[in-house]
Amino acid sequence: METIELKTELETKQLAGKLALLLHPNDVVTLTGDLGAGKTTFTKGIGEALGVKRTINSPTFTIVKSYQGLLPLHHIDAYRLENSEEDIGFDEYFHDGGITVVEWPQFIEPFLPEERLDLVIEKLSGEERLVTLKPKGPSFEKVCEELMK
Ligand SMILES: Nc1ncnc2c1ncn2[C@@H]1O[C@H](COP(=O)(O)OP(=O)(O)OP(=O)(O)O)[C@@H](O)[C@H]1O
Ligand SMILES: [Mg+2]
Repeated sequence: METIELKTELETKQLAGKLALLLHPNDVVTLTGDLGAGKTTFTKGIGEALGVKRTINSPTFTIVKSYQGLLPLHHIDAYRLENSEEDIGFDEYFHDGGITVVEWPQFIEPFLPEERLDLVIEKLSGEERLVTLKPKGPSFEKVCEELMK
């Protein structure tokens, strides 16, 4: 399992941007990490690289927000779905030709596609973060290889 150390918020956004350009339509990326780890910040970096003009923020009361860029970007924040086991039609987002980013994926685990890129973000100190890449499936293994170059 590969890890990447990030020293600043800018580095987080840059890594996210690099990843965005390696992804394909219908790819799903999950972001696991504590409150304030940097999941939404990472999603902003993906959005910027996809040319999303609108501001990406934490969808506090909305579970899903969709943005238009080079590809559609769906931002799912499942935080409020803890213990709910509710399927709000996630599959449609995963298959409409866009990129889907999921914060708090552990709460919607049964609905996630098997092939996906799981990322874990840990806060080390200050702005330092450790990102662990956990690709699920050959396509995402390749994405991670490219990401590490
Ligand atoms: N290297 C870094 N990468 C990401 N965010 C950083 C970094 N350094 C500092 N930060 C700050 O940490 C905070 C991360 O907040 P963010 O909303 O992205 O976290 P989150 O993981 O989405 O939290 P939540 O679970 O509440 O949604 C921001 O205030 C950001 O400016
Ligand atoms: Mg967030």
